[in-house]
Amino acid sequence: MAEAGGQPLLLGKRKLLIIRQEQDFLSPLLFSRIALLLFSGMIAGGGCSSSSSSSSFSAVVAPNMSSCHLLQHFPSGQEPYDCCAPPADYEPRLFRPVGGSPLRVRRPAHAADDAYAAKLARAYTLMKALPPEDPRSFSQQANIHCAYCNNVYRQMNSTQPFQVHNTWLFFPFHRWYIYFHERILARLLGDDLDFALPFWNYDHPDGASIPWLFSISSSAAHPVLSVGALRDSTHEFPATVALDFGVDTDLRPRPVQLQENDNTMYRALVRDARERAAFFGWPFRRGDSPMEGFGFGTVEWQPHNTIHSWVGNKSAIGWKHMGALFASGLDPVFYSHHAEIDRFWELWKALPDHEDFDEEDYKNAEFLFYNEDGELVRVRAGDASNTTLLGYVYEEVETPWMGAVPEKRSFAPATLGADDTVCVVGESIESTPCSFIVERDPEVSKASPSLHDHLVLTMLYNDTMMRLDVYLNFPSANATTNSECKEFVTRISYTHFTFVGDDAQLVGNNT
Ligand code: C2O
Repeated sequence: MAEAGGQPLLLGKRKLLIIRQEQDFLSPLLFSRIALLLFSGMIAGGGCSSSSSSSSFSAVVAPNMSSCHLLQHFPSGQEPYDCCAPPADYEPRLFRPVGGSPLRVRRPAHAADDAYAAKLARAYTLMKALPPEDPRSFSQQANIHCAYCNNVYRQMNSTQPFQVHNTWLFFPFHRWYIYFHERILARLLGDDLDFALPFWNYDHPDGASIPWLFSISSSAAHPVLSVGALRDSTHEFPATVALDFGVDTDLRPRPVQLQENDNTMYRALVRDARERAAFFGWPFRRGDSPMEGFGFGTVEWQPHNTIHSWVGNKSAIGWKHMGALFASGLDPVFYSHHAEIDRFWELWKALPDHEDFDEEDYKNAEFLFYNEDGELVRVRAGDASNTTLLGYVYEEVETPWMGAVPEKRSFAPATLGADDTVCVVGESIESTPCSFIVERDPEVSKASPSLHDHLVLTMLYNDTMMRLDVYLNFPSANATTNSECKEFVTRISYTHFTFVGDDAQLVGNNT
């Protein structure tokens, strides 16, 4: 890692780009300070060092509820507050799913009928009516996200904060989180056997808007499912969702955006997610610091983070609700967004030779949740693997993006032409694309050790967002080239939800 103009920018062996900076919003001035630093072998390296851990011992990573702090790392203008879960005066037992009950079916939200919408609205009305100190109340449910995501808990037997984002805990934590959330809603409805959350099916053209039942513009009958001004009003139903949300996505015609959505999905679940760590994110073990040396998986990056930013109101403090880690659970659409993310885990696992982590450090990692009886229980990451044991399945729907296999569009040699603007180490990337040659690691390209690659970086930005696209061996690529080609390496869309802790983090992953 190195510093350039105060803004470290990493190009690591794992083909990761990380930009950290401390302001809430990007300004054009800042862009001119984002300097370029190249680690040779970035593209050629290929070696995936997935061990970020400094700890050589195996130990459970678990949150310590008795070591809970006020909200930390919040955006400027936000008052600090207490989002710790109510304490329990007993040792929480370990809850292990056993299956056995009839399977509940999570269905696409856009296909919900009026009766289902009314039922969901009734469930949230009941949840919001619980006293705020009740761990099953809506505000406490939202606080869970704040507590686990804003470094509010320390880890058990460690002074390091507990963090679920940007790590291999991302999928299991959120699965357990919405599992209990759903069980509580079901209990409040008196419908333990049948009630299931809907999933926001944004990977399908029919579901590619905020689901009508959550949208203020179409569900005036159920305002309890919406949050009014704490969403981007231009993104309400029926605006087309942008899974790669960024600086220019609002300007795209619907068919163009739908194609980019397919491309984004294909990259996140197939092309860039062949290796486990690329899909899940990096290991996080007891004693690990959540602030360094780890990275998120393909889906967490896009479409997960991008959906958060796309839904939230960028003029509200922290891009609330959905664009802010501490507040996103206050928007009921959050839980349907996460049902969709949870479903992606199932889709990924259905691909040949795709399996969950088998490491003890992963399987034994623990979380604490209040269940539908208001009892605090411990659960393990490894026990989240099988949804049928948890009593639910997803309705099967078409996944057209599985066919969005990008084709090769450029056959140019990997040399720099006279017209190429060369990227200069220590200089800012401007809107003119710049290129450079990277040498392949002879270890990796044993057959043709003299091969080089031509990398093109293109940039687009305004005063709140930026987008950096990276192409390999496509010298004519520029900011208008679309991502539907084999040469496209990654798109780094800089939006607010990429902030974790007191640094901004931006990671593009092309393992
Ligand atoms: Cu915990 Cu959608 O993030």
